[in-house]
Amino acid sequence: MNYFHFASLPSTQDKAFELLESTAGPLVVSVDEQTKGRGRLQRPWIHEKENSLAMSLGFHVPAKNLSALSLVVGLGVVKELSALPLQLKWPNDLMLRDSKVGGILVESKILESQATVVVGIGINLQHLKTAPYSGIGNGIEYLISVKGVAETVWKYLCEFFKSDFSVFRSEYEKILWRRGQSVRFKIQESISEMKVIGVDASGALIVDRGGKISMQDSGEILFSGEQISEV
Ligand code: BTN
Repeated sequence: MNYFHFASLPSTQDKAFELLESTAGPLVVSVDEQTKGRGRLQRPWIHEKENSLAMSLGFHVPAKNLSALSLVVGLGVVKELSALPLQLKWPNDLMLRDSKVGGILVESKILESQATVVVGIGINLQHLKTAPYSGIGNGIEYLISVKGVAETVWKYLCEFFKSDFSVFRSEYEKILWRRGQSVRFKIQESISEMKVIGVDASGALIVDRGGKISMQDSGEILFSGEQISEV
């Protein structure tokens, strides 16, 4: 694993893609300050120097179905931070009790049979001052190391590359946020009430909608009280 640390970058994602043009990988890019971080679904990701941890893990891998990769990354992060009662809001938001304290963004570029993948991990070490992001706090933030997170996530990913998501299914379901409970689920522009049942062998969310079981491979669980206009 090659580690690159910068004082400030617009996004660790872009720097990791740039470095992967000339480096075999795996590699890790971390920063003190990220000025134009991005989240899933084209949302901005706010970073506050000292209150946020931002890192990207980049590598080349043979192109195959990588749809469950982001769930496996979430599992690796939760494992590394096992001193905290973290859960995963499907697919991969890091939840501490009922607050999101971190997120994962997986981006890839595919060229013929080879994929260049960059996994971005953002963790709020403290509550942010400039955005309504909750943080983990409580002293544990001092114990989180970029290297520890990267190594545990990489170990999980190597296992995933050797097999598939099915080997992680029960571990994931144990920490699946709102499992067994009703949630509002948003697919494209439509929102429905569903019960979260679990995940299938490909990482899709299994839900029960009025007695009808289905698998969701996209969409997102809304937070209670989350407004339609905000999502
Ligand atoms: C999300 O929950 O929407 C995912 C957030 C991912 C943020 C991280 S911070 C490190 C990396 N660099 C970025 O620009 N984004 C990811």
